Amino acid sequence: MVSFKELGLSNTREMFKGAVKGGYAIPAYNFNNMEQIQAIITACVETGSPVILQVSSGARKYANPTLLRWMGQGAVEMMKEMAKAKGLKEIPIALHLDHGDTFELAKSCIESGFSSVMIDGSHLPYEKNVALAKQVADFAHQHDVTVEAELGVLSGIEDDVVAAHSVYTQPEQVEDFVKKTGVDSLAISIGTSHGAYKFKPAQCTKDPVTGVLVPPPLRFDILEEIEKRIPGFPIVLHGSSSVATEYVEMINKFGGKLEAAVGIPEEQLRRAAKSAVCKINIDSDGRLAMTALIRKTFAENPGEFDPRKYLGPARDALVKVYKQKNEKVLGSAGRA
Ligand code: G3H
Ligand code: 13P
Ligand code: ZN
Repeated sequence: MVSFKELGLSNTREMFKGAVKGGYAIPAYNFNNMEQIQAIITACVETGSPVILQVSSGARKYANPTLLRWMGQGAVEMMKEMAKAKGLKEIPIALHLDHGDTFELAKSCIESGFSSVMIDGSHLPYEKNVALAKQVADFAHQHDVTVEAELGVLSGIEDDVVAAHSVYTQPEQVEDFVKKTGVDSLAISIGTSHGAYKFKPAQCTKDPVTGVLVPPPLRFDILEEIEKRIPGFPIVLHGSSSVATEYVEMINKFGGKLEAAVGIPEEQLRRAAKSAVCKINIDSDGRLAMTALIRKTFAENPGEFDPRKYLGPARDALVKVYKQKNEKVLGSAGRA
């Protein structure tokens, strides 16, 4: 058993206290490889933002669970060195399991040094979701690891689980769920979804000037109802990429084919971050930025075959994306 504390990682408890009180959200960025983790740490040290590094079970399968864990843990050392060299403040870093689906997976992550885990029983019948979340919370809390669970279903792809339709969180369930499970934060479904195609064009209106598809607003009424029932309790939003036109257009310009990709408008995320939402999950926006810069580099330099020459610009774009999120969307910059 390796405790996250020996590794210099933080659980999410203090992060969320600060976020709820200060009206901002902690960024939760997914990573699968070295360039992504370098970019996340660089952006968060340079903006002085606490950060949650997220590992999905798909990421573990792709990168090797042991290597990925060490990369997450090594991020603390990288952060310390970078902060010292640049005369910046050290930042709290949580290493978090994203969409864990079994007790065994959560336990294995906790025992190997994760400081936070999500147990996602959102697709299960209510009582089974309660039982699984409680089992994980009971174990995690023995090690001071914090736990996120989910009520309501997001449409889109979560690892191997694909939900065709979202089911909004029912506010009347949240109090009972939080009380019975003892979890530390709750992911809810209010209209966000995973991936780059969050809304069908038919659900959107077209901005007459920019031609950009504007999706229907998130269900802030449900969020407010939830806040009333569990005041001050940390709420999590998954599926919160904004799908920037800049990178979608770059991908399409350089041979890609992303038609009618629509994300969550930034002003809606800003509004959410000021409420009880204190963790905002972003993965697709990083994927889009990386892909755009790799495509551009190859199109402009067809003879290039040094990975550093195309992954380097992709990494720079990621740093830009994460800094902008921290500074202009989540409000987490300067909160470390
Ligand atoms: O919620 C999903 C995250 O974007 C992780 O995606 O399961 O493809 O690694 P993944
Ligand atoms: P996006 O696909 O919107 O980036 O959501 C990521 C996420 O929720 C990870 O858990
Ligand atoms: Zn998610």
